[in-house]
Amino acid sequence: MEKSQKSFSSLRLSRLRAEHLAQVAEIERLSYADAWSEEDIAAFFDWGSCFGYVLTCREDDNPVETVAAFLLFEVTQGRIHIADVAVHPRFRRLGLANRLIERLFVLGRRLGKKRVSLEVRQSNSPAIECYLRLGFRRQRIKKNYYPDGEDGVYMSRYLPERVEDGEAAALSQ
Ligand SMILES: CC(C)(COP(=O)(O)OP(=O)(O)OC[C@H]1O[C@@H](n2cnc3c(N)ncnc32)[C@H](O)[C@@H]1OP(=O)(O)O)[C@@H](O)C(=O)NCCC(=O)NCCS
Repeated sequence: MEKSQKSFSSLRLSRLRAEHLAQVAEIERLSYADAWSEEDIAAFFDWGSCFGYVLTCREDDNPVETVAAFLLFEVTQGRIHIADVAVHPRFRRLGLANRLIERLFVLGRRLGKKRVSLEVRQSNSPAIECYLRLGFRRQRIKKNYYPDGEDGVYMSRYLPERVEDGEAAALSQ
């Protein structure tokens, strides 16, 4: 816990770039049975309106920045759709997913979007709990949404009308 707390204090938010792909793919592998490969993730950005954020930190004795968490999303006409969010197991329960998604709320308001949406596996209780805490609501079940036949839960939330200045400044760093 001490190590994580230290890293947490040096956390940096930036756009996901090519140099992050290998570490992002590793977090994918540690998070999902049907993980996207590095190539799959790179291909996501070929769709013009798709973007990503990473939270990175410097760890002791490592000159390369560690990717602690990432978020992939698509900007559509009226909303932002979360395609993927995952946190390295070493950095979970430290508020990083919360921080990434709140950053997306700030971006959404700036872009004039009214809603943020996502799909999540029905069995993924940690993620559903995380989204509920962020104000998302279960809208409907998508039957057999995933390739293995599991149902998806479609969740969304309206964006806050206004974001406190201090919060926006902190999240924009
Ligand atoms: C789901 C996930 C992204 C959450 O990331 P995280 O950074 O650990 O989440 P946060 O620390 O921001 O948690 C925010 C809140 O979500 C809820 N939550 C997060 N993980 C939880 C868990 N394992 N069990 C229950 N609630 C959980 C809690 O309410 C938590 O607040 P608290 O820690 O004050 O109790 C992370 O567990 C993960 O990467 N899972 C694998 C990938 C995945 O399933 N992604 C979602 C795909 S739709």
